[in-house]
Amino acid sequence: MIYSKITGTGSCLPQNVMTNVDLEKIVDTTDEWIQERTGIKQRYIATDEESTGSLGVGAAKKAIEAAGLSADDIDLIILATTTPDKIFPSTACLIQKELGIKNCPAFDVQAVCTGFVYALSIADKFIKTGSAKTALVIGAETLSRIIDWKDRNTCVLFGDGAGAVVIQASESPGILSTHIHSDGSYEHLLRVPQGVATPELHKSHKKPFIEMKGNEVFKMAVKTLGRIVDETLAANNMQKEDIDWLIPHQANIRIIAATAKKLKMSMDRVVVTVDQHGNTSAASVPLAFDLAVREQRIKPGETLLMEAFGGGFTWGSVLLKY
Ligand code: UT7
Repeated sequence: MIYSKITGTGSCLPQNVMTNVDLEKIVDTTDEWIQERTGIKQRYIATDEESTGSLGVGAAKKAIEAAGLSADDIDLIILATTTPDKIFPSTACLIQKELGIKNCPAFDVQAVCTGFVYALSIADKFIKTGSAKTALVIGAETLSRIIDWKDRNTCVLFGDGAGAVVIQASESPGILSTHIHSDGSYEHLLRVPQGVATPELHKSHKKPFIEMKGNEVFKMAVKTLGRIVDETLAANNMQKEDIDWLIPHQANIRIIAATAKKLKMSMDRVVVTVDQHGNTSAASVPLAFDLAVREQRIKPGETLLMEAFGGGFTWGSVLLKY
């Protein structure tokens, strides 16, 4: 049996930090409210010189180096993003160019905050079927570019960044399972209501911004992530105690704590970066993963559960042995 094994991780954050106190000067909010309701203390915001592509390249280079490989070894690139640099080419192709890689397939995946879980799930299938041997999977975002900085309901929540992994074909586990889902009927609760081909856009000239009914999304996220934990454990015939680490999507510390509780897991077995990064959408899981790997908290052979929930709605999990 062929498994996909993670052999390198990397991440890249923008130069600028924006604290909650900085936000107090922009909208009617307080550091206390943001920390109490979300767990966020600060987030990174891209400068004019930084982009989803440049952050993705930064993370990818570190992941390739950590795997002990060179860019030539990569035979598949998948980028999860909601904030591509251009309408086309895909930002994955732009990253491919910057890395000096030629000919391998490179494409973007759009599943909002679940994007990295989707991308890893797709890459795993390429590896398992023998279509690729060494894949670069990236989550990168510059959400700051689609935020309405006058809307306190959303602008305090999001941040920019990128995380990446290299996965390689291996005889030992490896990714044990992936589960991905979506339900488009919840589009109205979390969305950017325009795209480049929206008919009304030509008339309105309105800038596209994130809109969210936060409270309703919150309740759905807690319920759905509980279900995905059950689905993942059952599919692998595992018990809650078999999971060594939870690497959740970093949207809100209260959602993360609810999933940890469901797993009967103490918070010191949960990788938390929401306080430092805010919600970086598709970048949040690989950013958190890289941090814990580099701090040597996660050890080879341990069992990790990654999970995410986001716009669509989309949700999913990856269970793996590191
Ligand atoms: O990553 C994709 C998935 N996204 C998520 O999972 C996000 C899920 N949602 C959440 O994390 C939470 O719902 C929020 C953090 C967005 C909001 O927290 P909440 O506890 O659900 O608050 P709320 O929306 O019910 O608002 C409570 C109050 C409201 O005031 P009133 O109506 O009670 O007077 C809001 O107007 O808090 C007010 N409020 C704020 N106050 C200060 C909303 N935003 C702010 C703010 N600062 N930034």
